[in-house]
Amino acid sequence: MIPIDHTGGYVYTENNKLYTLSSNPGIRVYGEKTVKLSDYEYREWNPRKSKLAAYIKAGGRTFPLNKDSRVLYLGASSGTTASHVSDIASDGKVYCIEFSPRMFRDLVNTCATRPNMLPILGDAVNPSEYQFAVGPLDMVYSDVAQKRQVDIIADNMDLFNTDIGMVAIKARSEDVTLQPSEVYRASEKRLTDRGFEILESVDLEPYENAHKMLVFRRG
Ligand SMILES: C[S@@+](CC[C@H](N)C(=O)[O-])C[C@H]1O[C@@H](n2cnc3c(N)ncnc32)[C@H](O)[C@@H]1O
Repeated sequence: MIPIDHTGGYVYTENNKLYTLSSNPGIRVYGEKTVKLSDYEYREWNPRKSKLAAYIKAGGRTFPLNKDSRVLYLGASSGTTASHVSDIASDGKVYCIEFSPRMFRDLVNTCATRPNMLPILGDAVNPSEYQFAVGPLDMVYSDVAQKRQVDIIADNMDLFNTDIGMVAIKARSEDVTLQPSEVYRASEKRLTDRGFEILESVDLEPYENAHKMLVFRRG
């Protein structure tokens, strides 16, 4: 297992596959494969099931996560990607926001054996509703696949006074009539208009169609 340099060594690779070091050995979250090496267990991280893994495979280099990161994760669903973030941020915290009661039930199960992952039933559009449950943050990650994706993450970053953001833009969620490139351009402009600087813009093809990952910081 070889640690990947540009993630600070928190993500591993072997035979072209990605892995995170499991913080909860013996438990699979979504049927992922695991590999045991001496005392350590690694969980395979599939770029076709996780946009954060797709970002790494597609060449993303500004990987703003480490073992101490305190992350607000918007659109956690059942916790597939969030569980890998929790492996990486093993001494940090992952506050997982999900508004679908059905997905939230599965998210609660995922979080049950991961002490650094907190499930919060809430709407990312109204961050003041869950403000009471969230501690100090280092970054916000968002994958909500709905309209106004950049405003949703930017509103959260403003409320929680956070400087680093990472948002998976699903072009079709903004406007099916626009070319994805137009949606990306408008999203980047909206972020810069709101005072953020784009650090990286990574197309997630061929792992995800018509998706881009933007990494940005307060300017
Ligand atoms: C594309 S899926 C997320 C997949 C997940 N990030 C992963 O990689 O494992 C989008 C999720 O965001 C949730 N969602 C959409 N809009 C939301 C909102 N305003 N607040 C909270 N969750 C939202 C959906 O219910 C869905 O579970």
